[in-house]
Amino acid sequence: MRALCWHGKKDIRCDTVPDPRIEDPRDAVVKVSSCAICGSDLHLYDGFMPGMEHGDIMGHEFMGEVVEVGSANKKLKVGDRVVVPFTIVCGECDQCRRGNFSVCERTNRNAEMAAKAFGHSGAGLFGYTHLTGGFAGGHAEYVRVPFADVGPVKVPDELTDEQVLFLGDIFPTGWQAAVQCDIEPTDTVAIWGAGPVGQFAIRSAVILGAAQVIVIDHVIERLAMAKLGGAITINFDEEDVLERLKELTGGKGPQKCIDAVGMEAHVTRSFDSMYDRAKQAVMLESDRPHVLREMIYACRPAGTLSVPGVYGGFADKIPLGALMNKGLTVRTGQTHVNRWTDDLLERIQRREIDPSFVITHTVSLEDGPAMFKTFRDKEDGCVKVVMKP
Ligand SMILES: NC(=O)c1ccc[n+]([C@@H]2O[C@H](COP(=O)([O-])OP(=O)(O)OC[C@H]3O[C@@H](n4cnc5c(N)ncnc54)[C@H](O)[C@@H]3O)[C@@H](O)[C@H]2O)c1
Ligand SMILES: [Zn+2]
Ligand SMILES: [Zn+2]
Repeated sequence: MRALCWHGKKDIRCDTVPDPRIEDPRDAVVKVSSCAICGSDLHLYDGFMPGMEHGDIMGHEFMGEVVEVGSANKKLKVGDRVVVPFTIVCGECDQCRRGNFSVCERTNRNAEMAAKAFGHSGAGLFGYTHLTGGFAGGHAEYVRVPFADVGPVKVPDELTDEQVLFLGDIFPTGWQAAVQCDIEPTDTVAIWGAGPVGQFAIRSAVILGAAQVIVIDHVIERLAMAKLGGAITINFDEEDVLERLKELTGGKGPQKCIDAVGMEAHVTRSFDSMYDRAKQAVMLESDRPHVLREMIYACRPAGTLSVPGVYGGFADKIPLGALMNKGLTVRTGQTHVNRWTDDLLERIQRREIDPSFVITHTVSLEDGPAMFKTFRDKEDGCVKVVMKP
């Protein structure tokens, strides 16, 4: 089959590789009808995520048709149309039973490696580093889905791929980011990053009843899309972020702040962002936490910082004094996708939201490698790329 494989920094190729097959009785094999490039894939593309190997199949946002089912899988049958969450979950461990799916205790087959790096392991993830199990991903014609009697979400035929595909990652990710803010009707929610995750965080914060939603970025098309979603926009190339946030909140700052940027924050007008660039370049810091710092300064005392943006290792110069003395709450995590999918699918069916708004590019799998660059560099108005294998 054809699949997008990682061959090193900025080197993704469309290769011919062996077809996947059932390896465990709970597995299923899915024929991919649509898949997408996620901001998290950029950390692999840019070479910032350790634990990648030559030939690893990329992709953790995908959906399609079940074409083979293991003998112990009672949930799926051949022909089912499913969206597959990026987190692989067992459904039985202590964490899964509490709904903490992204830290499933059983699905990372390289759990020891992860525990060495982080103290504990999280769930296995599709198309990601070997620290999360090195499972073949969904930028491919076919995927083996482990624990397929738990994770996959069956979707009705009347909805298009474009409407449901993002249930596997960025829609629940934006949603969880907003839910973690415990939004009250008087709250201002400020969101750093108007990428796909930021876009869904905006719409989620609006649905959850925030008084005001503000988004910070510098990509014009993304700011325009954010405005359509109900956000007030701040362009960090043209405006002082902290000053503008104060102006918009009666001098007090937003009660809730969401980091939808993560470890690859761009250089802004502020000195600390240049410092991160320099330190990361000489490998003295693995992550660029500029947004985290800015949120700590911007957030109103007793407020909440919600961090869906991915961090991979160690970050420098975090203003702990401000974080602690202002009494801020920090909530983080890879998304517990299956915790939200039933509710979000119903919202799509009720036409409360149509997630396809975020798609700007639809291409073949063969054109995928070039689209990683287009997406990373935000060229050609690119916000979200869907590929059709
Ligand atoms: N927690 C999860 O489960 C989960 C799931 C999906 C994605 N993510 C993470 O969410 C983050 C965003 O993903 P995405 O797909 O939207 O990626 P993206 O790279 O398309 O979007 C990031 C946006 O942040 C903007 N940005 C960069 N520096 C900034 C700064 N200093 N201030 C404000 N904005 C800035 C960029 O211009 C860009 O528009 C990534 O870190 C990704 O890994 C996490
Ligand atoms: Zn993702
Ligand atoms: Zn589990």
